Amino acid sequence: MGKREFRWGILGPGRIARKFASSLPFSQNGILNGVASSSLERAGSFGTEFGTKNAFETYEGMVNSGLVDAVYVARPHNFHKQDAELCLQHGIPVLCEKPLTTNLNDSLKLIDLSKEKGVFLMEGLWTSCLPSFQKALEWIKEGQIGEPLHASADFGHPAARDFSQRHFNPELGGGAMKDIGIYPLALFMKVFGHGLKIQSSSIQLENGIDAQEVFQVTSASGQQTFQGMVSFLGATPSVASIIGTEGRIQFSPQWFRPVEVSLEIPGKEVLIFDGKTDSFGFQFEADEVDRCVSAGLIESPNWSHADSIEAARLIELAEKQ
Ligand SMILES: NC(=O)c1ccc[n+]([C@@H]2O[C@H](COP(=O)([O-])OP(=O)(O)OC[C@H]3O[C@@H](n4cnc5c(N)ncnc54)[C@H](OP(=O)(O)O)[C@@H]3O)[C@@H](O)[C@H]2O)c1
Repeated sequence: MGKREFRWGILGPGRIARKFASSLPFSQNGILNGVASSSLERAGSFGTEFGTKNAFETYEGMVNSGLVDAVYVARPHNFHKQDAELCLQHGIPVLCEKPLTTNLNDSLKLIDLSKEKGVFLMEGLWTSCLPSFQKALEWIKEGQIGEPLHASADFGHPAARDFSQRHFNPELGGGAMKDIGIYPLALFMKVFGHGLKIQSSSIQLENGIDAQEVFQVTSASGQQTFQGMVSFLGATPSVASIIGTEGRIQFSPQWFRPVEVSLEIPGKEVLIFDGKTDSFGFQFEADEVDRCVSAGLIESPNWSHADSIEAARLIELAEKQ
């Protein structure tokens, strides 16, 4: 018997979709079996490059085709809700790029629809599925660093000051916190849980969009703290660590990618887990969707509906401050 295939469709074949498509050959069962774009030519050339002849000039055409088992929604933020709704309404499982939508209310509505239809929905926070990230959480669960006390993480890269592009364009859901704030927040949420309190300060551009944000988060119990920073103005080192009463966990730079992560306990040899991969690393979230959909789940424990809601709540609070 041949290998089981999990057939992916891509909606919006742009920059991030390329990374996703090029990672699929590294997944367990994933293949690209459809590409939909407002431009048939773009869908066709993307499909040819990544190995499928199934190009669609409408998104409806792809979700109605019977050719895809799940869709990766990869248009800018402001389109996520309508794109994911389209899939869910047609019973097609969705991996929707982060942020799930541009605001908490819309995310709640989308998650309600997933529940109502009984169809899988996951915000594409790929970092939450990486072996390096999972290993850190496993060490914490095992009590390797004792009681976790504090974590810190940054994530930043300069974006062109072109207000028509999505990074700084309010109509495309621009802003550093909305776009990349979820990465450091995810690290904290997965270690310290939900019900967090956030305090933030930001640098805003002339159109009111936040280009850099620093935030301090306290856990619901008040016993743990976190410091995060995101920027579209400069390349930050992208380092992350989690400190506990008996040791610490340190990610290699670019912690949000597949990297090495180390367990450092005073008096003991440093333990290093190598989470690197030859791809961009999107196969792990593709495998997770495959696993969940095959098991009949409508959400992933790696990044659940409740995680998306908590992140959206915190981002909205930070943006208002
Ligand atoms: N996980 C990650 O590491 C990561 C990294 C970067 C971005 N992202 C996320 O991925 C999403 C897409 O980002 P991207 O940089 O890949 O986008 P992009 O390349 O600018 O655009 C992707 C697709 O979106 C559609 N699109 C773009 N601009 C549009 C506009 N003004 N009006 C209508 N449609 C438009 C186009 O689809 P058609 O071909 O159908 O016209 C395009 O092919 C964002 O939500 C972002 O947060 C995630």
